[in-house]
Amino acid sequence: MLSAVPGTLVPEWCLNICGRCPYRHAHQYHDNREDMMNVTEITMEELDIEQFISQKTDEILNTVGDGAAVNALSGGVDSATVTMLAHNALGPKLKTYFVNNGLMREGEPEFIVGLFHDLGVHVELIDARKEFFSELKEKSDPEEKREAITRAFYPIVFTRLAAECGAKFVFQGTNYTDIEETVAGIKRQHNIIEQLGIDPVKEYGYRILEPLLQLRKPAVRAVAKALGLPASISDRPPFPGPALAARVIGPVTPERILLVRKATAIVEDTLSSTGAFQFLAILHEDRVTGIRNGQRDFGMQIEVRCWESTDAKTATPTRIPFTTLEALADRIIAEVPGIVSVTYNITRKPPSTIEAV
Ligand code: XMP
Repeated sequence: MLSAVPGTLVPEWCLNICGRCPYRHAHQYHDNREDMMNVTEITMEELDIEQFISQKTDEILNTVGDGAAVNALSGGVDSATVTMLAHNALGPKLKTYFVNNGLMREGEPEFIVGLFHDLGVHVELIDARKEFFSELKEKSDPEEKREAITRAFYPIVFTRLAAECGAKFVFQGTNYTDIEETVAGIKRQHNIIEQLGIDPVKEYGYRILEPLLQLRKPAVRAVAKALGLPASISDRPPFPGPALAARVIGPVTPERILLVRKATAIVEDTLSSTGAFQFLAILHEDRVTGIRNGQRDFGMQIEVRCWESTDAKTATPTRIPFTTLEALADRIIAEVPGIVSVTYNITRKPPSTIEAV
């Protein structure tokens, strides 16, 4: 193992055997892996919130100048914090979009657009379901699916949106952990671009601005609170950029997303009171034999995960009371069509990861 930055180990296979590397398309990266982590973390102890906000506001103003910028709001704490920072700095020069990629949780677009409306930030809802499902079509490999999401998001949807308003800058909420996991060769986070050797100006025609690059989640939450975001956002459990596509094993179709979306709503409803770091439902590809109404039912499986963690780097499964797990299984079987098996994952991260894809 080699160390790219203190505390970050790059697996040997990632360096030597490119055929097994998850980022097969970006080999050049392996030669300059030291540069990939060219960002200094600001720890929670080092963070001076007011100074951070004022410094980032100045940087945004100086970089965007008289130009226009677009902002990708997903509803997670990271992108919500970037939205407030950039909105406060740029006012009407910033156009904020919520891209409905068809992979969101139940009621998410309406909830986020309404919440920001109440905060005085206009958010335009973009229907990009066709673009995302078309990129994801017939893809089962986890890295190929993650790459498809990146492709739909940057060169397809955001290139169009930026061109429409003549923007040369796109804001996004990448944080320190996102880069770290990508650099370590574990998962290609959907929002990591330059660290994979892609020049966004050359490839997409805009620069990507990432004001939260030096912070981990707890520090982002503190900045979110200071910027006046409500607890429903600042304390929100993390949700992955590839959204429910990160929770479907095998092909991602509108029909399969519908099933995992229903299961997710039940899991969130049942487990939010645990106060766990993250809780999720995963739709499996394998089918199993079950019995429904006295008949054989070769049905689908949902796996439930619930995690204790502080920074998502390591995590342990929550010790949920068995009666809660039984109630959860009963609801999923009753309310999600075609599911005959519900399991609870008791593996730690590592070797598991938080999301399944
Ligand atoms: P894993 O699955 O790698 O997840 O243990 C670690 C944390 O990151 C979230 N996650 C993502 N967040 N883009 C994101 O913005 C992504 O592509 C992505 N993949 C995973 C995950 O939910 C967990 O909190």
